[in-house]
Amino acid sequence: MEDLLYLRVAGHYRRAIRSGVLAPGERLPSVRALMRLHQVSLSTALQACRSLEDEGLLEARPRSGYFVLKPRRVALQAVSEPEPGAAAMAPDPAPYSGIHDRVSDFVAKCERYPVVTNLALAFGAPEAYPQEALKNAALRALRRHPEVLVSPVPPQGDPGFRAVLARRAMAAGMSPTADEILVTHGCTEAINLALRAVAQPGDVIAVESPTYFGLLQVIESLGLRTLEIPTSPSRGMSVEALELAFQTHARIKAVVVVPNFQNPLGCVMPDAEKARLVALCEGHQVALVEDDIYGALSDDDLPLKSCKAWDRSGNVIHCGSLHKTLAPGMRVGWMIGGRWQARIRMLKHAQSRPNDALAQIAIAEFMGSSAYDRHLVRLRRQLKAQRERTAEAIAAHFPAGTRLNMPTGGMLLWVEMPGRRSSSEVFNTALQEGIRVAPGMMFSNAGRFDHCLRISCGAPFSERIETALTRLAQIVAAGLD
Ligand SMILES: Cc1ncc(COP(=O)(O)O)c(C=O)c1O
Repeated sequence: MEDLLYLRVAGHYRRAIRSGVLAPGERLPSVRALMRLHQVSLSTALQACRSLEDEGLLEARPRSGYFVLKPRRVALQAVSEPEPGAAAMAPDPAPYSGIHDRVSDFVAKCERYPVVTNLALAFGAPEAYPQEALKNAALRALRRHPEVLVSPVPPQGDPGFRAVLARRAMAAGMSPTADEILVTHGCTEAINLALRAVAQPGDVIAVESPTYFGLLQVIESLGLRTLEIPTSPSRGMSVEALELAFQTHARIKAVVVVPNFQNPLGCVMPDAEKARLVALCEGHQVALVEDDIYGALSDDDLPLKSCKAWDRSGNVIHCGSLHKTLAPGMRVGWMIGGRWQARIRMLKHAQSRPNDALAQIAIAEFMGSSAYDRHLVRLRRQLKAQRERTAEAIAAHFPAGTRLNMPTGGMLLWVEMPGRRSSSEVFNTALQEGIRVAPGMMFSNAGRFDHCLRISCGAPFSERIETALTRLAQIVAAGLD
């Protein structure tokens, strides 16, 4: 019994340290005081202190006692790289790959259980976005241009908004004119249009592996087939493996990449790799579609370059949106169609007609000012802090052998579980307890990532999130042999 008492004493102080009641640098009560306070023996009080020391929560200072340490960053190994020389998977044999069923199953299950902690969303919490400023911008814009409610919108979108987008695109190394930009219903419509412009049903689209499940759904819904290219969690799609795939697969009509803070890996392609990729696709006359939805979310405030920055022939179709950076509630995206611009305009007209003007003029008002830059600086700081706290909690609680990427921007963490633990099982159990994560099996048609989880850091880190991660870690550990 005395043996277990030390755990109770240690738990008491662990909670106080984790919740911040005892701050770094503060002194713990002396061992004698602990004995009195908790009615334990000298050896129990010492054992409690030593176990907290072993956990990295306390340090012993000679002749002074025990002091609270700044939480130690427990390093986890990085997510596994693909095998050197790994080749592309065989393309999906038929356009039907089952991704709709997997995503529908995920959505249906999520609807069945009330969510307490949602770690599955790939965007920030509402309070991370400038709601009040956007509301004021919308009111000002509407006061100035009430006619937008009753007048048709130009087919490519509001010219003032496109002019702002063209100016902002320069930071990512691009130099489009406003006329080259087409406003879309989010990035999803942009990718749909891009793939419809360059491919026919039955054609093959090369993608990163793992990749964003929404992209797999677009491909399946258009009757196209997916070819998964090995992708490094540190450098993005393997350009060597893609080159090999061009030699062995005849019907590749497009390559789709998320070059900056890829979903789900969080990796950034180095500039040299982006340039090689652009040149390779150009050389093979295969369209390169880039989805650069996270590029503005880099920790160090330097916007990352888009692949389009290296495009000299119009072979790159650039897609973006404000879903992550400014306004998850407004379905506003855009694309630069390159040499397919005319066909894409025609497809947009046939598919959905222009976006409504009000959202565009409101956003133009905000994005045209320095308020947008200040918002981005705040958002990046916030996401960095949330990512670090989440990673620390994963490192502290998940079982040994867990691997984790550590992106330098964005809001996603990709966790590889030890023992090839099934993400579907973990997802199902966690969901019933109100914890939602994105299971790895949704990010590939090939079933290669079922032992992974995507954990979002879009919401402010809190005790509720720490508790959910601790419980998630127990669920993961419970299924290991
Ligand atoms: C890589 C990527 N592309 C596109 C989207 C969806 O973009 P939108 O909401 O602008 O259609 C997401 C959302 O999670 C994403 O992660």
